[in-house]
Amino acid sequence: MKIIKALDYNDMSIKAANIISEQIKIKANSVLGLATGSSPLQIYKHLIDWYKKGELDFSQITSFNLDEYYGLSKENRQSYHYYMYDNLFNHININNQNVHIPDGDNKNAEQECLNYEKAILDVGGIDLQLLGCGHNGHIGFNEPSDIFYPSTHLVKLADSTIQANKRFFESEDEVPKYSYTMGIKTIMHAKKIIMIVSGESKKEIVKRAFFEPITPQVPASVLQLHRNFTLIVDKAAFSLCENI
Ligand code: GLP
Repeated sequence: MKIIKALDYNDMSIKAANIISEQIKIKANSVLGLATGSSPLQIYKHLIDWYKKGELDFSQITSFNLDEYYGLSKENRQSYHYYMYDNLFNHININNQNVHIPDGDNKNAEQECLNYEKAILDVGGIDLQLLGCGHNGHIGFNEPSDIFYPSTHLVKLADSTIQANKRFFESEDEVPKYSYTMGIKTIMHAKKIIMIVSGESKKEIVKRAFFEPITPQVPASVLQLHRNFTLIVDKAAFSLCENI
């Protein structure tokens, strides 16, 4: 595990955006694993900016998103589909046919999950996976559990996740209770993984995930085992780990 210490959210974002940009420059047809949430927003702004300046070309890029709320259509403003188009895809030259996000509208979970896994395998796997970290240590929507669930699956969201994500919805009742998510094996098979974490509110989970034993109760802790994993963490989120 490699740790890159950033000053703050902006510094973390530029450092992560640079790694993604390098990946695209080194391999024009890279397969990127992408994340949602507040953490990657500034990264996506940098990528759009560099695309507009002619420094980045997404025409051969393939993307797979980590997760999608079950039951939300693509048009729903709270869906991760909407988020990705709004915050990135509408502003770059990625080919829509190369964009993959689980279909929250597909009620046939078995079929949706198998198709998603197959689509990742068909393109030879993910070259670079971007991850955020939930306050409870979830990655994608792999919630704390007794096991590391391997492949893409339908998951019941933890109450703490519903609480954390209700800020994006009109009311708590509107937050979906289930989500599709890549599994732990799906994520761990990525050739490279970067995780971005910022802010005081994540300091406990950074310590538990990366300085304590690996456990499915803290899903992000499994990343300690990945052979090419980089944590990009700002001062506030790293504050409990400085002296370890
Ligand atoms: C969300 C997403 C995760 C994300 C995490 C942290 O629920 N499913 O992929 O990494 O929670 O979100 P944030 O960056 O807003 O703290």
